Formats: sequence, structure tokens, C-alpha cells
Amino acid sequence: MKELEKIKNEILSCKKCPLYKNITHYVPGEGSPLAKIMFCAEAPGYWEDAKGKPFVGAAGKVLDELLESIDLKREEVYICNLLKCRPVTSDFKNRAPNLNEIEACSPYLDRQIKIIKPKVICTLGNHSTKYIFEKYGLKEQIQGISKIHGKVFEVKSLFQTIKIIPLYHPAVATYNINMKGILKKDFYFLQTICQKI
Ligand code: URA
Repeated sequence: MKELEKIKNEILSCKKCPLYKNITHYVPGEGSPLAKIMFCAEAPGYWEDAKGKPFVGAAGKVLDELLESIDLKREEVYICNLLKCRPVTSDFKNRAPNLNEIEACSPYLDRQIKIIKPKVICTLGNHSTKYIFEKYGLKEQIQGISKIHGKVFEVKSLFQTIKIIPLYHPAVATYNINMKGILKKDFYFLQTICQKI
């Protein structure tokens, strides 16, 4: 799809915030332009930056397993992040996005959503959940991900009705193996929702 390619090309030369100075690759996102389900996380990490693709490190393995558990292929969905560049500390560790970076980068995500028109947006973790909730007028309903994961928040935009489903970030299962079961349960629920759209 031409418009998505156009956004991708803009991202690949973006200098809207200073993050580009320290990256190896931009990570625009990937998947089907016709995807009914979009997964949106926070920002690329080390491996995503190294390869230019979303979710290719340890958290990516968890995400792949979760997708497979509900018979979804990466190519059928769209996977992206709120930030398209890896935010790092002065000693090159991952860090959370700051407000300037979100302000500079989020218009790319807004445009990706507008073009793909997903029926379901699964936000992965607190940062993308907060952004998407604010974007769609759900600010009052923002709570920590432990309170709202696996719930459906339906919003109407100019173009369509979107079901927003906040989920734990798959990386949590790499620190705490018990979280895998919770993620799996939420993905089974997601499967039931997807059968109806
Ligand atoms: N964590 C994220 O938030 N995004 C990725 O693409 C990978 C890990």
C-alpha cells in the first residue's frame, strides 16, 4: 500500500527528535496493510534497533508464541511501536520514551492507524496504552495495566469503531514466567473477539 510505504520512507529519514543520532536502524513497524488487529508497544529495544524490525528479541519470542497459540501469523496482523527509534540512557540501556519523543513520533502511529484502520488495537504495556487511551478519549479510564489488561474498550472514530484491548507487554514473561499464563489467557480472549469481527 503506497501510503504506508510513504510513512515508512518518512520514518527512515526522520530527524524530528534527537533519538535518530544513536540508532542503528529505524523500526517503522511491519505486517499486513489490511490487518484487522494491530499490536502497538512502546519502542524498539536492542535487537529491534539492530535489525530494523519490531519484536525480534526475547519479548518477540514470547509474542510469536502467543500469536501462534491463537493461530495468528505475524503477516496477518500489524506490529508496531509508539516510538520508531530506540530510546537509550547515556550508557546505552533501554529507557522509557519521554514526552518530547512521544510528541515528535506519535503522528506516525496516528497515520498508520488511519490507513490500516484496524478493528482491534492491542496496546502492549503501559506507555502505548496511555497514549492510545488519551488519543481516543479514554483518559478517565486509564489505570495500570494490571487493572485493565484483557478488557475491551470500544471507541468510535470518524472512520470506524475500534476495540482497544490493553495487554501486558510480552517482555513481562521474560522476567516472570508466571505472567505467560496471564498473557495466554488474554490472547485466548482476543481470539474470541477476533472471531466476531
Ligand atoms: N519492546 C517493545 O516495546 N517493542 C519492540 O518492538 C520490542 C520490544
